[in-house]
Amino acid sequence: MTQAAPKRLPEGLGVHSLDHFALSVPDLPAAGAFYGAFGLEPRADGAKLGLYTAGSEHCWGVLTEGPRKQLQYIAFGAFADDFPRFRDRIDQSGIERLDPPPGFDSDGLWIRDLNGTLLEVRVAEKSSPGRKAPFDCSSVPGGERGAPYRSTAPRIQPRRLSHVLVFTADVGKTIAFYRDVLGLRLSDRCGNSIAFMHGIHGSDHHMIAFARSNAPGLHHCSWDVGSVNEIGLGAMQMAAAGFSAGWGMGRHVLGSNYFHYVRDPWESYSEYSADIDYIPADVDWQSSDHPPEDAMHLWGPEMPGGFVINYEATQIAGSGLDSR
Ligand SMILES: [Fe+2]
Repeated sequence: MTQAAPKRLPEGLGVHSLDHFALSVPDLPAAGAFYGAFGLEPRADGAKLGLYTAGSEHCWGVLTEGPRKQLQYIAFGAFADDFPRFRDRIDQSGIERLDPPPGFDSDGLWIRDLNGTLLEVRVAEKSSPGRKAPFDCSSVPGGERGAPYRSTAPRIQPRRLSHVLVFTADVGKTIAFYRDVLGLRLSDRCGNSIAFMHGIHGSDHHMIAFARSNAPGLHHCSWDVGSVNEIGLGAMQMAAAGFSAGWGMGRHVLGSNYFHYVRDPWESYSEYSADIDYIPADVDWQSSDHPPEDAMHLWGPEMPGGFVINYEATQIAGSGLDSR
């Protein structure tokens, strides 16, 4: 895991990291198999399954078993001396503070966003990177082999959680909520279809992104790897494990990352991501509103039909999708 840098924006109040997300799924062993094949380290914790990356003790995801796949909450990390300021801001905003959900023991600040998605602000070490993540695009001199043999290709293990993309009924109001309450900043948006937000203390181009739907839900979680080669090998690794559906390989315009998405057993996605843009604490990133053609990919295969459907909404309502 990339360690926190001492750099910090002295003024302003904002969360520094996407600490972890929590998801219920109908089949916990199946989820363990999926994320294990993806290269994460699922660890049982009572009735929960924690998602870890190799060599790190940071829990990036908490899975519980439930009747259907459903985003349970999103936890953001804050500096300890900012915690009382967040509490005051929430109280002054008239936002109701809640108890942790049943089965979760945490003394963070629990609130719901305007979509009803449960959020936690907790004191935590800065788990978002302190600088742009290393990216390997090395070549070899003439006379040497560049690629490993298939038999010796490494197992791909993502380094950290980069971001999540969740659905919202109103992208504009959601940007305002996460700006005014959590202190995130807008990186880029495409009208009212999709928006990307970063942390003020230095983070990836987006630690959270929002796409329009008629209900909340998780679209994908994104995991950082070190090269385009690792993305390709990760896709092969998942196909060999029976998870070949998805989208990629390609390169995004907004965020610039190379990607390959793998569909999980519940119609959401895990993304292998490499070389995402980084926004340091001392850079005043100029956000823009981009045309729809720049919302998704610079190159790569056409997006498969149904890629942006909110299946959590379909499970609730049975219809009424809005994936424009
Ligand atoms: Fe992503």
